[in-house]
Amino acid sequence: MFDLQNKIALVTGGRRGMGRTHALALASQGAKVAVTDVDVNDCEGVVEEIKAKGGQAACFKMDVSKKEEVESVFDEIIGQFGRLDILVNNAGIYISKPAFEITEEEWDRMMDVNLKGQFLCAQRAAKEMANNKWGRIINIASVASGQTGVGIAGGAHYTASKGGIIGMTETLAIEWAPLGINVNAIGPGAIDTPMMQAAQLPKEAMDAMLARIPLRRIGKPEEISAMVVFLASEEASYITGATFYVDGGWLAA
Ligand SMILES: NC(=O)c1ccc[n+]([C@@H]2O[C@H](COP(=O)([O-])OP(=O)(O)OC[C@H]3O[C@@H](n4cnc5c(N)ncnc54)[C@H](O)[C@@H]3O)[C@@H](O)[C@H]2O)c1
Repeated sequence: MFDLQNKIALVTGGRRGMGRTHALALASQGAKVAVTDVDVNDCEGVVEEIKAKGGQAACFKMDVSKKEEVESVFDEIIGQFGRLDILVNNAGIYISKPAFEITEEEWDRMMDVNLKGQFLCAQRAAKEMANNKWGRIINIASVASGQTGVGIAGGAHYTASKGGIIGMTETLAIEWAPLGINVNAIGPGAIDTPMMQAAQLPKEAMDAMLARIPLRRIGKPEEISAMVVFLASEEASYITGATFYVDGGWLAA
């Protein structure tokens, strides 16, 4: 099960954090992976890790918020790999700011990267996937996306962007089901990545959060990648338009 031999996958924001483990996990199941990021500094390191384990990968600089760049990098990747089967829309930013202080530019930047970026990549990917009548698009949202009981003080713009991803996922799933493309979202809980570390939660806030999570720990990036691999696989053929929360039980508590 979950064999991805002969599949071509593209991961955005793949140089570190969860993007890195998604790329490694997809490659470990046999996919050839295009590791993309706005910052390519550590990207080659991920490609080397994949190659060291016998996989195939290449690194590409791509800012998901810029349509022209998305179009040209997708063209390059499809030209080099011959096809595209799996897109993991993982790139994202989080900047904590009280709602009164969020500027219009900061609001727009959050939407451009977290929401518009996922749309631009999904749109371009689906055009290619439609040619092959097979595709998997996996959008990374968050538990903090609305109607879950998990708001984040200082994250009005972030939570709005993540809620938008879930609505977009449902609509794209309906539009592209006839094209053989399944579109799903994953809502991670609190996961140990550079983004989480940069948030520098005070100890009391971390303890209060852990008290709400039945498994009493934050998650490992690999625990989200397992869901990515499943949704990317043939075994997820009857799943589309859904959001899966991988959160240590947070939303159940
Ligand atoms: N860490 C968590 O607790 C958590 C929880 C829920 C959801 N998420 C989401 O998971 C995803 C991955 O987060 P992470 O925790 O691994 O974060 P991270 O900051 O470690 O990694 C994010 C990656 O996205 C890249 N990126 C930023 N802007 C970009 C742009 N414009 N174009 C292309 N790449 C860009 C960064 O360079 C970085 O490599 C994000 O969408 C995030 O919102 C994270």
